[in-house]
Amino acid sequence: MANHNQGGAADAPRPLSEATALIRGGLNRTAFDETAEAIFMTSGYVYASAADAEAAFAGETDRFIYSRYGNPTVAMFEERLRLIEGAESCKATASGMAAVFASLASFLSAGDRVVASQALFGSCSVILTEILPRLGIETVLVDGCKLDEWEAALSVQTNAVFLESPSNPGLQIVDLAAVSEIAHSAGAIVIVDNVFATPVLQKPMDHGADVVVYSATKHIDGQGRALGGAVLSSTQFRDDHLMPFLRHTGPSLSPFNAWTLLKGMETLRLRVDASCETAAMLAEQLQGHDKLTSALYPGHRAHPQYELAMAQMEKGGTVLAITIDGDKADTFTFLDSLRLFDISNNLGDSKSLATHPATTTHRRLGPEGRAKVGIGESMVRLSIGLEDGNELLADVMAALDHI
Ligand SMILES: Cc1ncc(COP(=O)(O)O)c(C=O)c1O
Repeated sequence: MANHNQGGAADAPRPLSEATALIRGGLNRTAFDETAEAIFMTSGYVYASAADAEAAFAGETDRFIYSRYGNPTVAMFEERLRLIEGAESCKATASGMAAVFASLASFLSAGDRVVASQALFGSCSVILTEILPRLGIETVLVDGCKLDEWEAALSVQTNAVFLESPSNPGLQIVDLAAVSEIAHSAGAIVIVDNVFATPVLQKPMDHGADVVVYSATKHIDGQGRALGGAVLSSTQFRDDHLMPFLRHTGPSLSPFNAWTLLKGMETLRLRVDASCETAAMLAEQLQGHDKLTSALYPGHRAHPQYELAMAQMEKGGTVLAITIDGDKADTFTFLDSLRLFDISNNLGDSKSLATHPATTTHRRLGPEGRAKVGIGESMVRLSIGLEDGNELLADVMAALDHI
């Protein structure tokens, strides 16, 4: 395969700007000189000789061996995201949850200890509070907004810290720099699930994080088409932990999905900026609405951690968390009255989506678990897409009127 990396810009001495890297980062054209990235739907590769196969398996040659370990289309996606994140390495996975699990299970052993923020996506909570403990790994949960809780939990030797910021769905902000510093003095590797912030709005590694994970299913695809995930880290973490784990457990990304995600990356900045603008407008318009007790948005001054959010994130993101002044029935009336927003458990889509976390994404936590992270029966998560902002606002207002 001809190596026309970055569409002929490979010789450029300067690093690519974000705008260019989103379009051309990782581009590796074949001898056919195609414009769009090629989809290599192949599970395996062939060798010119038995000796070549032996050399490949001995690690003496750098080449694709089997698509469970690596694939040219997947490698293009990994390189594009790596450039945007500014990380040494990126490994793609079949889903966001595969990325979360690999980031932890690739290096933790029985007897190890993890400290995590308790405000997490439901499946991340299940990994931390059910799956890891079953493997003999202790997990301690803290209120991620309280540095004294992090300090107390990290006063003993710890192997990993795991957190989301902003959190799903309560939009809590964790002080990435402060927590990373405390975690490092306890010997822990800091893993940040950066899904809500997106790769373009927040760079956790600039604030001290060691590993960043994504559900690429969300904003990176951003059009509701493909599942995918990624783990970004140092090359040492990749080589010592991640690669052996991924290679032998096999949560590999399909080449077709990698291609879809490459196309998603091309418009990521444009889509995220447009959704942020509408989300900020909705947040402003919904403040003080008499059918709501709150309208939380990290980019709005009414958010209790607005200053911290804006110090870490370029913009407030694409998600709002609103709380209906009423009970579950009122909240369902609101959801069922929406005409443009779809009811869905997904987020980060070009279509605006409304979620009732208590009965869907965070159902498994149970009432007590949800109460600890502020997910009540009247909370609705609004993922803002790319429709006309005024029509979205009118939809929310009309649905609130139905209560
Ligand atoms: C914060 C966060 N992390 C991880 C995931 C899991 O991603 P996936 O559905 O791609 O496995 C999600 C999905 O909603 C999420 O919101």
